[in-house]
Amino acid sequence: MLAVLNEVQQEVTPLLGQGTVAQYIPELAKVDPNQFAMAVTLTNGESFGVGSFEKPFSIQSISKVFSYTLALRYYQDDLFKRVWREPSGDPFNSLVQLEYEDGIPRNPFINAGAIVVCDSLISHFADPKKALHDIMIFIRECCDDHSIAVNHTVAESEMQCGFRNLALANLMKGFGNIDNDIDQVLQTYFQQCSADMNVSQLSRSMLYLANDGVDPISGKTFISEAQAKRINSIMLTCGHYDASGDFAFRVGLPGKSGVGGGIVAIVPGEMSIAVYSPALNNNGNSLVGTKALELFTSKTGISIF
Ligand code: DON
Repeated sequence: MLAVLNEVQQEVTPLLGQGTVAQYIPELAKVDPNQFAMAVTLTNGESFGVGSFEKPFSIQSISKVFSYTLALRYYQDDLFKRVWREPSGDPFNSLVQLEYEDGIPRNPFINAGAIVVCDSLISHFADPKKALHDIMIFIRECCDDHSIAVNHTVAESEMQCGFRNLALANLMKGFGNIDNDIDQVLQTYFQQCSADMNVSQLSRSMLYLANDGVDPISGKTFISEAQAKRINSIMLTCGHYDASGDFAFRVGLPGKSGVGGGIVAIVPGEMSIAVYSPALNNNGNSLVGTKALELFTSKTGISIF
């Protein structure tokens, strides 16, 4: 496994420098674009890493997998009344479909959907602080590492410039699909996105999705088998926004990206893979990270197809 990861790293190194780090979040715009890290954690607990695999970065939209897992656990099928499970074919921060689809986001991985999920978690606890706490406790439990924390500088930076998210939340509130105070919902959402993790922690944390909802190392059940199947399906069809088809075509695995430059991919029954390289393609997904995953699945023949 380490040999394949080394080979992948060698082949993507010349591509570093292509793409651009996220510009709309000032703290992320400062990040060195020429970084690369990749880690694999097998369901038997073995793990492998190359590059800066211990260096934390902002997980951003990858956090939406954790918050959606919790919301599905609390609301089950009722959640689908407020957020669908169809690809949007639009950018992650787009407003257009919401207007003619009555404020119901297409899926939980575009920003609008994740904001609704966040709202649902706040309602569940009737306290935004408890909702964020619950998300963070869950992330820490998933990767069995209690050091994971929110980077408040990044959260604050996005709070200052998150104009499109403010517009999305207001539009949905106008349609009656946000129940709580908009500032509280967005603050919680920005904070969950601003958790810092490294690729080793990320690949470890998503093993429950490679093992029917049960963490194969601790034996803890996080979600039902049926719900794990659904989350993986939505990751495959919606995890990369308007590039989800391209990601599925090239990589052949369910995956979720973040504008911090991370991507997590799931190989059901076998492993979870995380990659980091902060420069993004035009769809807001890690350019080198996508290439690394494509090389990994091509070289190993590992994919769901
Ligand atoms: O709301 C935002 O725009 C960011 N906090 C998260 C977006 C994101 O990560 C998109 N992913 N590639």
